[in-house]
Amino acid sequence: MVFSRFLQNSAVFVLLLMSGVASASELRPVDLRCEYRKDPQGIDEVIPRLTWRVESPERGQKQTASRILVASRAEMLKQDVGDLWDSGKVDGGQTVNVPYGGKALESRQVCFWKVCVWDAEGRPAWSDVAGWTMGLLQPGDWKAEYISLRDERPLHKDRKSLFLPPAGQYRREFSAGKDVKRATVYASALGIYEMSVNGQRVGDARFTPGWTDYRRRAYYNTFDVTPLVKTGRNAIGVWVADGWYSGYIGFGLQIGIGTEKVGRYTYGKTPAFLAQLEIEYTDGSRETVVTDRSWKGTWDGPVREADLLMGETYDARREMRGWAEKGFDDSAWEQAIPAGENGSVPATFYETVNRLKPDGKNEVQGRPVDIGFKRPEKLEAFPGLPVRAVEEIIPVAITSPAEGVFIYNLGQNFAGVVRLKVRGPAGTVVRIRHGEMLHPDGSLMVENLRKARATDFYILRGDPEGEVFLPRFTFHGFQYVELTGFPGKPDKDAVTGIVLHSDTPLASGFECSDPVANRLFQNIVWTQRANFLDIPTDCPQRDERFGWTGDAQVYVRSATYNADVAAFFTKWLRELMESQRDSGAFPGYAPFPFQIGWDFGTAWADAGVICPWTIWQAYDDTRIIERCWPEMVKFLDWRRQTSRDDLGVVHGNAWGDWLSFGTTTPLDYVDTVYFAHSARLMSEMAAAIGKTSEAAEYRALFERIRAAFLKKYVKPDGSLEVDTQTAYALAIDMGLLSGAARKKAGEILAEKLRGGETADNSGMTTGFLGTRPLLPALSSTGFHDLAVRHFQSRKYPSWGYEVEQGATTIWERWNSYTKENGFGGKQNTGMNSFAHYSFGAVCDWMLGTLAGIESAEPGYEKIVLHPSPPSLDGNPANPPISWVKAHYDSIHGRITSNWKRTDEGFELEAGIPANTTATVSLPAKSREDVTESGKPLAEAPGVRFLRMEEGRALLAVESGTYRFFSKLPR
Ligand code: BGC
Repeated sequence: MVFSRFLQNSAVFVLLLMSGVASASELRPVDLRCEYRKDPQGIDEVIPRLTWRVESPERGQKQTASRILVASRAEMLKQDVGDLWDSGKVDGGQTVNVPYGGKALESRQVCFWKVCVWDAEGRPAWSDVAGWTMGLLQPGDWKAEYISLRDERPLHKDRKSLFLPPAGQYRREFSAGKDVKRATVYASALGIYEMSVNGQRVGDARFTPGWTDYRRRAYYNTFDVTPLVKTGRNAIGVWVADGWYSGYIGFGLQIGIGTEKVGRYTYGKTPAFLAQLEIEYTDGSRETVVTDRSWKGTWDGPVREADLLMGETYDARREMRGWAEKGFDDSAWEQAIPAGENGSVPATFYETVNRLKPDGKNEVQGRPVDIGFKRPEKLEAFPGLPVRAVEEIIPVAITSPAEGVFIYNLGQNFAGVVRLKVRGPAGTVVRIRHGEMLHPDGSLMVENLRKARATDFYILRGDPEGEVFLPRFTFHGFQYVELTGFPGKPDKDAVTGIVLHSDTPLASGFECSDPVANRLFQNIVWTQRANFLDIPTDCPQRDERFGWTGDAQVYVRSATYNADVAAFFTKWLRELMESQRDSGAFPGYAPFPFQIGWDFGTAWADAGVICPWTIWQAYDDTRIIERCWPEMVKFLDWRRQTSRDDLGVVHGNAWGDWLSFGTTTPLDYVDTVYFAHSARLMSEMAAAIGKTSEAAEYRALFERIRAAFLKKYVKPDGSLEVDTQTAYALAIDMGLLSGAARKKAGEILAEKLRGGETADNSGMTTGFLGTRPLLPALSSTGFHDLAVRHFQSRKYPSWGYEVEQGATTIWERWNSYTKENGFGGKQNTGMNSFAHYSFGAVCDWMLGTLAGIESAEPGYEKIVLHPSPPSLDGNPANPPISWVKAHYDSIHGRITSNWKRTDEGFELEAGIPANTTATVSLPAKSREDVTESGKPLAEAPGVRFLRMEEGRALLAVESGTYRFFSKLPR
């Protein structure tokens, strides 16, 4: 025994000598995150999960053990002491979502942590120190009360005019008597707020605290303001605007639903603000400043209008210099009041209910509501990533289609605002309109904004040095900015685009030999960025911007490739679960402020299962399954109750294969397929969280649905009763067909697409639901060349067509703009967004199939690299894609797939992150034809040949970077 250990040790020693590597570990733990975020403040997960990555330049390097230390003071970690938790040395390679296992965490606890990892040779290495803090965990921790301004304004009930009230401003001074050790502010609002301490903005988050069903639940944010609070006199200043709470949202005004049918006051009438500043002095004593009657407030400040949809008006003449600093004379300001003192505000709330009148329409009903203040039942720590200004865009061109009208082209469609620089006489009003496109005469196209005014106004104070305006409480979806009223002729500097979105770190790259596909990839990422703004929205420009569930489920897989959306979906899934209907169905959008039509729709409802499943798959997150489990079970119960003979039915909103054209796929078919799909995903999720009997039960349910599906829809010759591309693509992709039937379905689908192609039509007829699985279904049934060819098509309708029309984002409709018809004609200008991500869901095929970056199990610890080049002669119309350079930053690190197909063969540069392994599959004739870095496979460290399979060599590959070559002459 002793001897064998001696041998092992000397073997390691000899290896180290041979490789010339010092005995220090080459494996480094980096990128420490808690609940998916770096150093989060004020979390309320009492068992937070810790994640890191390991990096190494060596092949095959992995973590063999780890030790986590969590301490209440950073200095302790220097001594390797974790007074809150010392996990001890734990064998194994887990780096993702390790649950905290130390002392119970209490409100306000400050935690510092680091991790030591041992590499394959048993050499240890420590990480840098990271941290998190706990928020206010007990309702009793909150001493603050919601405050408002006294609001005697009558309710606005007129649908023909807009009511756009000013943003409120609040302030309070306080003294910090001693040396400040730590100052933390916990804040929330019914509305949106922006806070400053001593005139300095607190943090950089926008639209806080985000959109929830405020009556039931609101988020609070936690900010470390230690550097801002000074010993002596201090001041806090806060802006509070209507936001989603009481401002215009969605299509409420357009349709005439919601509170008083005006589209605003959805959750309440008067915004309110809540804050608690806790100061800890160096001598251990504490002081707390809370929102209460001692605050002052005003509606007389410069932000005269502040609405998410309509825009912001800023009158710089009304600025009150120093209002957020000490010593400001606030004698003209009012006393703030506890929000409840505004009393009850009776109103009527209109929405449809799920009852069919004889004419087949859902009836709008009014019911009495009280839109006076109501404290949200729950206050939760914000679990997502805040919206931030993430990038600035400089205009590419300025035109002037009419006297005094200047249009800036920012070259890119996005969501955000404009920073305006202007100099001129006091009182000059500059109007800033936003649009996604221009009319042929060069004027701004705003028809597709519907009721969203999307217009900001800036009124100059007349500063000879010039003035700068940056709206705070609105955002627009736009590429073009129109200025009118500008004093003189504006130059390029007058307008800068400020890109706003939830700050989800971008995680992918894709380039290939086809420049149109490269632009498409950029368009997809930009569309995601334009729509992941607090919640995943359908579009950022018109009066909608809802968390449409169908769009989200179609796109979520692509979203996980393009950005780290773990925290973002952790947050939105709370909104989605909470919005579940009493029936068990998930609604068409979440949050669900008001109902129009039915409160659910096939395939939209299934987002409640598909999204949690996808997040689990991408991040190996079983807790999201546990958290969503009760609602998901209820949903499946509803699906079972509504189904007949194990088949789907026609029910709810008949969106179905939304925006398909030429063909319609019957709703009962779509419903059956989604019922089966949800049942299968439930079975997989049940197994993942150890619910074995439920896993079997849902599996059996899936099999029953499948059997019923086969009986009803599959004809003896293998064709389907429903003869649409969408029907075939869904059945193939969602596992309803196998063996010969699947192959046959692939053939028919290919024939339909190919057969439908004409000189000026690509042949595609699929809508939101059918387009996502179209290329995956073709590629997986032996028609990969056709899939790539269609992907590269420039004919209408196709992705390439859109790019060639100048798109910089993904359009809602393939024909959102055509050269022949412009925006008019059939395609309905009012429902014509130029930033809708559903058709961008092709991204999951681009990265998962074409680049071939996949995972064998949830979380990319066992990677599958299956790059899929098309044949050299697969496309007469456009040169087939001959190389791809792609990467995906998985939760374990960067996976790279750079491939190239030449006349001689196939090259693959593969990058596999440390601590993971991959099955690499290369097109090859035989194992002998494959080399790695010029060496035969048998001599390549980290590579093991597994087998040949369907014209591909399968290799087991350790972490590291590799250059494979497969001899494959033309
Ligand atoms: C939205 C869609 C959504 C649809 C429901 C539209 O108004 O923009 O993206 O899924 O309604 O059919």
